[in-house]
Amino acid sequence: MAKTVHHPVTSGETGMPAANEAAATAANGIAATLGAANQAGARINRDAYAEAKDFLPLDGIDHVEFWVGNARQASAYFRALWGFTPVAYAGLETGVRDRASYVLQQHDIRLVVTAPLTPDGEIADHVRLHGDGVHDIAFAVPDAAAAWRETTSRGARSAVVPRELDGGEDGVLRTSSVFTYGEVRHSFVDRRDYHGVFAPGYRRIKRPARAAQGLSLLEIDHCVGNVELGEMDKYVDFYRDVFGFAQLIHYDDKVIHTEYSALMSKVMTNGSGRVKFPINEPASGRKKSQIQEFLDWYHAAGTQHIALRTEDIVGTVRRLRDNGVEFLGMPHAYYESLASRVGDVGVPIETLEELGIEADRDEEGYLLQIFTRPIQDRPTFFFEIIERHGSRGFGVGNFKALFEAIELEQARRGNL
Ligand SMILES: [Fe+2]
Repeated sequence: MAKTVHHPVTSGETGMPAANEAAATAANGIAATLGAANQAGARINRDAYAEAKDFLPLDGIDHVEFWVGNARQASAYFRALWGFTPVAYAGLETGVRDRASYVLQQHDIRLVVTAPLTPDGEIADHVRLHGDGVHDIAFAVPDAAAAWRETTSRGARSAVVPRELDGGEDGVLRTSSVFTYGEVRHSFVDRRDYHGVFAPGYRRIKRPARAAQGLSLLEIDHCVGNVELGEMDKYVDFYRDVFGFAQLIHYDDKVIHTEYSALMSKVMTNGSGRVKFPINEPASGRKKSQIQEFLDWYHAAGTQHIALRTEDIVGTVRRLRDNGVEFLGMPHAYYESLASRVGDVGVPIETLEELGIEADRDEEGYLLQIFTRPIQDRPTFFFEIIERHGSRGFGVGNFKALFEAIELEQARRGNL
């Protein structure tokens, strides 16, 4: 099969002396060869962005809302460990009687944590069943009513019909919402005529406590959904038919397996490539898939992890570790063979090993990534930190080693 190889360095554009350029071209050739070997079994659709239909313009992810047991403490966790600044609050003091919400911001990432103030109602029910977890992956859109019409007319189930929230002198915030897998929602948020903080009912936090320093988390790179066995293709079709996304990559269970367990994954993307949603389902193995462990403890399909993009993974992970964020560990053997698999990735292998950062290379470039342990007591949601250098992949070369590391933890939890 013919494959396009993108050389980042092309003749005449580098300004490098000819000998260096030749050396660079040779190095790229080696990198491309390494990349191809590394990605065996992953089927990448290079026409995905062109195939995506743009009947639904999305201007990226507006925010992600977690429903949690204690929003005040969750907010402090994201501030003190992760470097997010609390920027807005809604609760009893702002006239909201049933919930408390904190909005946290870092560069283009906006998180909302919301807890129930009453023993019944949808938030209390959600927390009782699922524990803390992702409630809403909200999109910024130019027209929330049109987005709702386009998606519901194509089969999405409505969660909230289009509405206008009156913010007084701050203007009008227009939103609507549909369901995706499990109880997770996609809200549509149109901020064109709204100039206040986050949403009506929220007030600005004027003097927030100091956020952790030295972190550089820039934007949400991708959000991964875990669905029940046999449901992956249903949600692949859902994102294609309802949202106009296209399939970027298919990893089958021959790629993503260890001696014990397996999973299958397909990655859906919108036309701009700004919104990427891998969908996982468990595959059968000798022992329990990590996806099945998530489903058992979340008691539903749900969002498994969100990847946050940085351009300084070394500095950021060092700070996160200092602040007490726990990451999955990779065995020494992983790093012994790393250089031969990925070549030069700009960071000494010893530094990667010291911090537990993984590297992967494909034909377009390389990426560095690391995964936290679950951030709540249930073995459910976790974060990924990712730094991309040309690669649009998801680290398939790391899957086997990574899943073995996860299985070690599953075994410690009695869930393997
Ligand atoms: Fe990921």
